[in-house]
Amino acid sequence: MLTQECLQDAVKYGECFIKFGKTAEYIPELARVNKYHLGACIVGLDGTVMEYGDTRTPFTIQSISKLASLILAISDRGADYLFHDKVGVEPTGDPFNSIIKLETKTKPFNPFINAGAITVASCIDGKDSDEKFERFLQFIRKVCGNEEIALNEAVYLSEKSTGDRNRALAYYLKASGILEGNVEECLDFYFKMCSVNVTAVDIAQMSAVLANHGACPSTGEVLIEPESAKAIRALMLTCGMYDGSGEFAMTVGFPAKSGVGGGIAAALVDRMGIGVFGPALDEKGNSIGGIKILEYLSKKMDFNLF
Ligand code: DON
Repeated sequence: MLTQECLQDAVKYGECFIKFGKTAEYIPELARVNKYHLGACIVGLDGTVMEYGDTRTPFTIQSISKLASLILAISDRGADYLFHDKVGVEPTGDPFNSIIKLETKTKPFNPFINAGAITVASCIDGKDSDEKFERFLQFIRKVCGNEEIALNEAVYLSEKSTGDRNRALAYYLKASGILEGNVEECLDFYFKMCSVNVTAVDIAQMSAVLANHGACPSTGEVLIEPESAKAIRALMLTCGMYDGSGEFAMTVGFPAKSGVGGGIAAALVDRMGIGVFGPALDEKGNSIGGIKILEYLSKKMDFNLF
């Protein structure tokens, strides 16, 4: 049985590695964050919550938002269309913001790299960026069980004014006929969805829904179609940690999705959701302390699926 003491030991273990990481420097507002935050929250499928460390400190969701936007796009367009015409389901082995494969293969390899997530963002229903974002916000509040979740305006503006690499990806995708609609509206929505403030508790709640086949553990309400939840967990395992996904599968061994805000959301099917937060990142853009917490829990509790 997982105890509070074990969770505390995992966070203490993760703390030893923070000094080797750095906050995301390419987004000026994220570069300013205190890199020594660290915390972990576990939500069981009976609704129980266990937490230790900085679990109530807000941070921007960043790429973890790509789970929610993909769920919305699947429900708007259908998985067949999305995964056939718009994005693949294969890992790239390249960094999350790489452009290199877009020239040789028009379709982004998967929905979690930036090119794939920008494409998915363009497939979400809504007449403009505001309408798409409102739908995204309603969904993320529901799936995290927190009505207070809101945009971090400073991070959004920081990303929007410096996101030229994402702009390049989006215009390239438009030129290839992959990205739908107005490029700037799509990018504006993408920057907003990445800049929503959440906590480790929020992302643990969302992960618990994914682990529970799409149903909210405390109310039983179906928030995600079970088939979508299954596809998302598979993609988290193969692509969720970008070019660190293979090593993460070897050392930790369960589905997880990281963000450069320092969060990692992990879904252990039929067991629990885990949310960790530690803004010091490794060279691949994944939380360095967060990975170590998950590695500790995986070994101690025998969570590794393999
Ligand atoms: O578009 C970006 O670069 C960021 N808003 C999100 C990237 C990210 O979180 C990658 N995750 N590890």
